Amino acid sequence: MGYGRSGLGDVDVDPSFWRGKRVLVTGHTGFKGSWLCLWLHAMGACVEGLAPGPPTDPSLFALARVGEVINSHAVDVRDYQAVERVVADTGPEIVLHLAAQAFVRRSFTDPRETYETNVMGTVNVLDAVRKSRGVRAVVNVTSDKCYENREWEWGYREDESMGGHDPYSSSKGCSELLTGAFRRSFFGDGKTPTHLASARAGNVIGGGDWGEDRLVPDIMRAALAGSPIEIRNPEAIRPWQHVLNPLSGYLVLAQALWDSPSHATAFNFGPADEDARPVRFILDRLSERWPEPLDWRIDSGPHPHEARYLKLDSSRARLRLDWAPGWALQRTIDAIVDWYLALRSGDDMHAVTLGQVDVFAGG
Ligand SMILES: NC(=O)c1ccc[n+]([C@@H]2O[C@H](COP(=O)([O-])OP(=O)(O)OC[C@H]3O[C@@H](n4cnc5c(N)ncnc54)[C@H](O)[C@@H]3O)[C@@H](O)[C@H]2O)c1
Repeated sequence: MGYGRSGLGDVDVDPSFWRGKRVLVTGHTGFKGSWLCLWLHAMGACVEGLAPGPPTDPSLFALARVGEVINSHAVDVRDYQAVERVVADTGPEIVLHLAAQAFVRRSFTDPRETYETNVMGTVNVLDAVRKSRGVRAVVNVTSDKCYENREWEWGYREDESMGGHDPYSSSKGCSELLTGAFRRSFFGDGKTPTHLASARAGNVIGGGDWGEDRLVPDIMRAALAGSPIEIRNPEAIRPWQHVLNPLSGYLVLAQALWDSPSHATAFNFGPADEDARPVRFILDRLSERWPEPLDWRIDSGPHPHEARYLKLDSSRARLRLDWAPGWALQRTIDAIVDWYLALRSGDDMHAVTLGQVDVFAGG
């Protein structure tokens, strides 16, 4: 298997760069973290994961047996001493920080947990990195929700104001602000060899997601159970993209950071304009591919505030990292249906998931 370039041939994830690299992934038991760890392991990286057990049951982490190919440290990012110990003991060269309370709805019910995890958890990881002095590249994964959403039609650039209406979004804005402060205060300019960047993406979809109140997991859970699907807002437009698209961005960003202090900044990783589509579009495309009819209805109950569509301008990633989203939306939908049908057929989900990584990477 190749694990080289993406389907479009634009994204240059370089397996020879990753071979033998010591990489710490926080949030490795989650949806994105599990895909990322499998990809890193396939390229020959030595991967350590930092997170409690999987946040959902079932989980991609368990189904794809991610724990068999990497070392896991069951640590809460809110526990500074434990984070510092893992960083000191494992000596990572690269840190990819994904651990977060990642759900808007839950941030309304437990705002403290959200800020403690997403803000102080990030401070803890960056401070442990600062003290270790051996880390060369750090990517802090935040969100497109970090921006002050002015309900503009045009794309947001990296130097736009931070904001966030709800606690989750604002915690990601805070995470961006503290990343800038750590960069200016402690990293670079001869202070330490660490180059620190942040990555902003949103509305990531793909096989193996079981997150609460997320569209594709809700649809796929119902499809597998043969039960009706409750949809909150079928006309809401979101910028959908396959999970491997932003992950390829995080990887090329870390590669660039290794040698280049000028890449120590924020990067947007958004889909092509034509892949910003209403919820109804995703439902229709999934229905076309799913073997049985999908029965859905509008859930008219009360819902927390949902921000309007926010478009990312990814020119910086395209120009400075040569990054482009590898899979467009139709290819993404196909990959999702293939993944859940394979699960229903009892296939080996480690092989299925790695197989999709391999196809994406052009191997
Ligand atoms: N999925 C998306 O659409 C999306 C969009 C934008 C940004 N993000 C960001 O990407 C990252 C990964 O998201 P995901 O979709 O994989 O979420 P997820 O909920 O599937 O995974 C989150 C991971 O963080 C870990 N975690 C949670 N609380 C923790 C704590 N206190 N200490 C240590 N680890 C903890 C979980 O155990 C899990 O491993 C998050 O930072 C999220 O905010 C996700």
